[in-house]
Amino acid sequence: MRHLMSPLDFSVDELEQLMNLANDIEHHPKKYAHACDGKILATLFYEPSTRTRLSFESAMIRLGGKCLGFASADNSSAAKGESVSDTIRIVSCYADICAMRHPKEGAPLVASLVSQIPVINAGDGGHQHPTQTLTDLLTIRSMKGRLNNLTIGLCGDLKFGRTVHSLISALVRYEGVRFVLISPDELRVPDYIRNDVLKANHVEFEEVTRLEDALPSLDLLYMTRVQKERFFNEEDYVRMKDFYILDKAKMDLANPDMLVLHPLPRVNEIAVEVDKDPRAAYFKQAQYGVYARMALILTLLGIEAE
Ligand code: NCD
Repeated sequence: MRHLMSPLDFSVDELEQLMNLANDIEHHPKKYAHACDGKILATLFYEPSTRTRLSFESAMIRLGGKCLGFASADNSSAAKGESVSDTIRIVSCYADICAMRHPKEGAPLVASLVSQIPVINAGDGGHQHPTQTLTDLLTIRSMKGRLNNLTIGLCGDLKFGRTVHSLISALVRYEGVRFVLISPDELRVPDYIRNDVLKANHVEFEEVTRLEDALPSLDLLYMTRVQKERFFNEEDYVRMKDFYILDKAKMDLANPDMLVLHPLPRVNEIAVEVDKDPRAAYFKQAQYGVYARMALILTLLGIEAE
């Protein structure tokens, strides 16, 4: 049995197969409409979510399966003090596969150690978000045609943004990927990303503060929200929250084929006027999230469509 805790749980070849499967699902959805007949997905969400939970549920339903679960810790037995380990033992009796989001780093890993069913990390605190990374890789590969030889700007809350940590970890395995890390000083990437992931893999990167300076060199800009829920005090959040706002004037500085991605939700960091720009790919990215999760569910359940 296999779980998904980090994007590195899949080799580059396995990711390739998963993305091929996701593209096949996109183009031939009927072929997969009954692949998970009789299967149940549990979504255990101890933290807010729109896209991740609903795209998981949509993915399972589109595969012919069914879903159960909870959307907040308040209406599960966590509110009574039940441990994640006990909860997953119980859910193992009710479902065939589970996606878990939790505010504590490592909670899905703890669950996977006692689970009888595959556990998918759907976001653990400020740590990792591997299924967003599958979505991001699929979006980049589908829209740019490659995952190598790219200059990628990551902008915003690089400290607490788990999507950024997972995406960097996954992309360092491709040739010729260069990063421009754009953040205020206080929200730079954690040391383990800088040292154990970027430097350890001899990946070219620079850390800058001004988005305007970085824009002209980028093939792709990955915007992120300042992670309000991970701040210790409101004042710091308020000071940081509008540090970057990507608007039409800034888009004029960028390459004509630079893609703009964002895991969403957006707060103020991308002006609504940018949505009309053909380079804005964040809504399309959310659509790819369904195909990526369909491919992941099939892969972890070991199901091959006819
Ligand atoms: C992200 C998350 O939960 O980390 N959202 C998502 O899953 N698409 C990004 C965010 O909340 O800022």
